[in-house]
Amino acid sequence: MSDFNFNSDEECLNVSVRSDGADDNGSYKFVCRLEHFGHQSYGQSFGIYFSQDVSIVEVPGDVEAIAEGNHLHIRRNNQMNDNGLVEIWIKLSAQESPEVTGITDIACQPEENGKEVLEIGAVQRAIYSRRSVRSYQPDMLPKEIIERIVTAGTYAATGMNHQSPVILAVTNKEMRDKLSAMNARILGKEGDDPFYGAPVVLVVLADKDMPTFLYDGSLVIGNMMLAAEELGIGSCWIHRAKEEFESDEGKEILSSLGIAGNYEGIGHLILGYPEGEKNAAAPRKENYVCYVD
Ligand SMILES: Cc1cc2nc3c(=O)[nH]c(=O)nc-3n(C[C@H](O)[C@H](O)[C@H](O)COP(=O)(O)O)c2cc1C
Repeated sequence: MSDFNFNSDEECLNVSVRSDGADDNGSYKFVCRLEHFGHQSYGQSFGIYFSQDVSIVEVPGDVEAIAEGNHLHIRRNNQMNDNGLVEIWIKLSAQESPEVTGITDIACQPEENGKEVLEIGAVQRAIYSRRSVRSYQPDMLPKEIIERIVTAGTYAATGMNHQSPVILAVTNKEMRDKLSAMNARILGKEGDDPFYGAPVVLVVLADKDMPTFLYDGSLVIGNMMLAAEELGIGSCWIHRAKEEFESDEGKEILSSLGIAGNYEGIGHLILGYPEGEKNAAAPRKENYVCYVD
């Protein structure tokens, strides 16, 4: 059984191929799952390399497939459905059970009958490709990168422009480890590192005297996640900042940094160079959006 996943950030399309084994007629069935970041394309194409030569037995009506040796080129002539997810099956014959060895040339056709569709720019690309990263390389990020990310946070909208949040940009290993230990204790998993080895921790707190503090702080974290994604930096929101900074130890940290005020911890955004492959996004739930026209 083979399972292969490939993400084309440029085309904003994720393709994964799963082997479903042989059917009753001895054809090998593969299921290709296409996930579009958004659902703007009217046609999608990609190539699959197999471990051996294959020939086509059957494909669905809206799919064109050409097999050449161990390469299969697939083109789907249809718009993505509303949730941006489509599964295509293909049936192939081969000498023995073929394995997928690679996925290539992912492309999308962004228009239909000359009708231009909305472009996907850097912001949307970051929105759709961002995933929570839970494994990091230990290397510290350059200061300029951290500054870019926190600056994006400071430009988040805030209620009445009160700019209620503050951001602690922690790169100091001793402080990072201290926060991690406090967080693990609150989680009830002493000894664990809830920051997954990330070298940078951005703690967002917000002034409880502002009625919108929780929303303000959350939006700051959202902005920083997207800026990190655009810069190729992995991130993950880590919870329990509220409990952390309600503790005496947390209050001491704030006062040692000269941060005085009625602050509540909103969340941590851990940052670092990702280790390993990015996961695909979970499918969006049905009826997430209710259009009221
Ligand atoms: C408010 C909030 C708290 C979260 N807390 C944690 C956490 O403590 N640890 C963690 O590993 N992920 C945490 N996450 C990340 C979510 O688990 C993650 O966003 C979700 O599984 C969706 O995955 P994605 O971010 O890759 O789309 C948190 C996310 C949010 C928005």
